[in-house]
Amino acid sequence: MKPVAILISGAGSNMEALITSMTGAHPARPVLVLSDTPEAPGLARARALGVPAQAIDRRAHADRAAFERALCAELGDCGAEIICLAGFMRVLSPAFTERFKGRILNIHPSLLPRHRGLHAHERVLAAGESETGCTVHEVTAELDDGPILGQARVPVLAGDTPDSLAARVRAAEHQLYPEVLRRFAAGDRSPVFLP
Ligand code: GRF
Repeated sequence: MKPVAILISGAGSNMEALITSMTGAHPARPVLVLSDTPEAPGLARARALGVPAQAIDRRAHADRAAFERALCAELGDCGAEIICLAGFMRVLSPAFTERFKGRILNIHPSLLPRHRGLHAHERVLAAGESETGCTVHEVTAELDDGPILGQARVPVLAGDTPDSLAARVRAAEHQLYPEVLRRFAAGDRSPVFLP
């Protein structure tokens, strides 16, 4: 069983989808949830699912290097072999991504390489695109870059707002991320495309 740590900053709906998927014959198990803020609702959600959860408050650390040292200490202690970013709103340093090279996954709410960074749904709507989706990729030093491990397509519907589109994309994220993690933990890095 591969030990998995999940890093969050917010609600943790993707975290929950990942945790609840790791049962039975699944090749991985959740060992720790970390948040960069104590206010993340996902912390309580993780504990309710029986997974240890802890905040490492970015604001309590002098700089990113100190924050990442604290992260690394926890990740080392829990023995994490795979790190899943699930709505984690911090950019990790090249030193951090190098240290865990090939072992960090992220989910992004667009069809990468389109719409890297924040406000993807707003940009999809502003561009008048008829389709969007979500992407799971390996994390490298470049933001929202790195080998694509899976994508799910989602239609943009007439009258969509950023919120309605985000909700539709999030439902697809909850299908895609567990599927990619299951394959990744079993050693399969070939990309999966849903539906
Ligand atoms: C998701 O849309 C994810 O793609 C983005 O942040 C959001 C996190 O939502 N990176 P949740 O905390 O998993 O509910």
